[in-house]
Amino acid sequence: MCGIVGYLGHREAYPILIKGLQRLEYRGYDSAGIAIYDGETIKMSKTKGKVSDLIDCVKEEIDTKGTLGIGHTRWATHGVPNKVNSHPHYSNSGNLVIIHNGIIENYETLKKELTKRGYAFHSDTDTEVLVNLIEDIQIKEKIKLGKAVQVALNQVVGAYAIAVFDKNKPNEIVVAKLGSPLAIGIGDDEFFIASDASPFIEYTKNAIYLEDEEMAIIRRGKKIRVRKISDDSLIDPYVQELQLNLEQIEKGGYEHFMLKEIYEQPSAILDTFRGRLLSDQAIIKMSGIEDNMKRFLNAPRIIVVACGTSWHAGLVSEYIFEDLARIPVEVEYASEFRYRNPVINENDVVIAISQSGETADTLAAIKLAKSKGAFVFGVCNVVGSSIAREADAGAYTHAGPEIGVASTKAFTTQITVLTLIALRLARAKGTISSSDFRRHLLELELIPEKVKTALTTDDIVKTIANVYKNSRNFLYLGRGYNFPVALEGALKLKEISYIHAEGYPAAEMKHGPIALIDEHMPVVVIATNKGHYDKVVSNIQEIKSREGKIIAVVTKGDTAVKELADYVIEVPETIESLTPLLTTIPLQLLSYHIAVMLNKNVDQPRNLAKAVTVE
Ligand code: F6R
Repeated sequence: MCGIVGYLGHREAYPILIKGLQRLEYRGYDSAGIAIYDGETIKMSKTKGKVSDLIDCVKEEIDTKGTLGIGHTRWATHGVPNKVNSHPHYSNSGNLVIIHNGIIENYETLKKELTKRGYAFHSDTDTEVLVNLIEDIQIKEKIKLGKAVQVALNQVVGAYAIAVFDKNKPNEIVVAKLGSPLAIGIGDDEFFIASDASPFIEYTKNAIYLEDEEMAIIRRGKKIRVRKISDDSLIDPYVQELQLNLEQIEKGGYEHFMLKEIYEQPSAILDTFRGRLLSDQAIIKMSGIEDNMKRFLNAPRIIVVACGTSWHAGLVSEYIFEDLARIPVEVEYASEFRYRNPVINENDVVIAISQSGETADTLAAIKLAKSKGAFVFGVCNVVGSSIAREADAGAYTHAGPEIGVASTKAFTTQITVLTLIALRLARAKGTISSSDFRRHLLELELIPEKVKTALTTDDIVKTIANVYKNSRNFLYLGRGYNFPVALEGALKLKEISYIHAEGYPAAEMKHGPIALIDEHMPVVVIATNKGHYDKVVSNIQEIKSREGKIIAVVTKGDTAVKELADYVIEVPETIESLTPLLTTIPLQLLSYHIAVMLNKNVDQPRNLAKAVTVE
């Protein structure tokens, strides 16, 4: 997956493009490039590395004058990350320049055809094939750029968000989208192009999100023309007013986005239930659920599809739905579900969870479920994202932009939304008493304050991080509602500190992982006083007798675990189903501090991207 930006207007394009690329680096950061056109010369600079490396290259290589430009930050799919494979790419004549996010699946076949027709390729990318295909069509059929793009895209199999311009058309950029996101910001006599709205938020609040199979011709001083790629029909685009503000997407004094986002959780959770949880009236109001209540109540089961951290939130929801609403739940990795010919019935409800709303596997799982007649409900953070639009109905998490690659506030706000849904369904089904329902609502309302208290463990967590930062392996154990938290804690550590970590249900330890335990193994155990406390204490004893190092997350005031553990981290008491919202906080902090102490790139860990829009 990659980030794309573009500008066409009256200002110098370069600073807008560079700042935009920096905001989009969460989408990929193994190489970056820009092309600027001043009406006479196209100036291109690209490099392996980050946008900061690109800035150095630009200083040495090109003058940046020009009011038309495009830029790209890459997460390699076809071809290793290097200068040649970086975008933008020229066509063979040097007239066309393109940037692309996505994958052209039939690029080998197209490349063979073009090679036969005399085209030469300098990179290993599918994108260079696409730009030459457009050029070939343009020359062969003697048609304008927009038309040539349309004809070319009808020959392409795959996913794309592209922006392309022609040296002979200094006032025009053509964009198109299928499967990868593309937003167009509309200012006064100027246009911005980007993978999401963050690059242009300080310039305009008006944006068009292209739908799949749509393309737009953007011309200086003219109205945007949007067309359907397949049949050329004109479309009247919907211009949205953006709710995002600049402060939300900047670091706000924190050293890293991840830390900022960890600390934003009290307000993010509050935003998630604001207007939905009305404890004074003892109701939960979510239009996506109310409007589709029958489908939920008639569903023989709920299938949850998601990836990574969102999958862990799905696992937590399995406990909540089954426990409170007595609805059977199956939680599936979207990547497995989409390819394993699953049994899906018309009455099934599929809940797709995704922070970005762009994860390719989750999107494909939704499409499969819909094709079998299931009702799909999306739980997304990014408003207007592909999954949010593809789902039949949904609920946003309202966590605000999550920029750090490691998901933090997305996880807790997803759990909050899923808890609200489970409680609402439980009430409608009568599987929860009114007093228990009210108790849950009141307790949920206290969670933001309790998360704040959980955040005060930062100092002890830092001490623990310092002690164990050089460990080669970590084990994370939890039971019941906190088993998925153990998985999530391990994932956080792996992805940003590159330390091997495994999460396990605490009782499973004796079926294998216990063999790993010796004096070098730190074991993080979630042992709150709810759930299977005594059993977890026994597991802790088993670790202790094998000399493992115990870091325990306990409920405030705990005494039994304190006697056994090397370190305890106390979180406030709450009802069992809400404990994941608190126990996950010190685990996020632990991975953060270890990664910082090991000098790792916390916000942009190696090999990862914020939204995985490829398989
Ligand atoms: C982990 C992480 C990934 C994502 C996964 C799904 O910190 O960020 O595991 O959770 O790629 O992404 P979304 O939720 O955007 O579908």
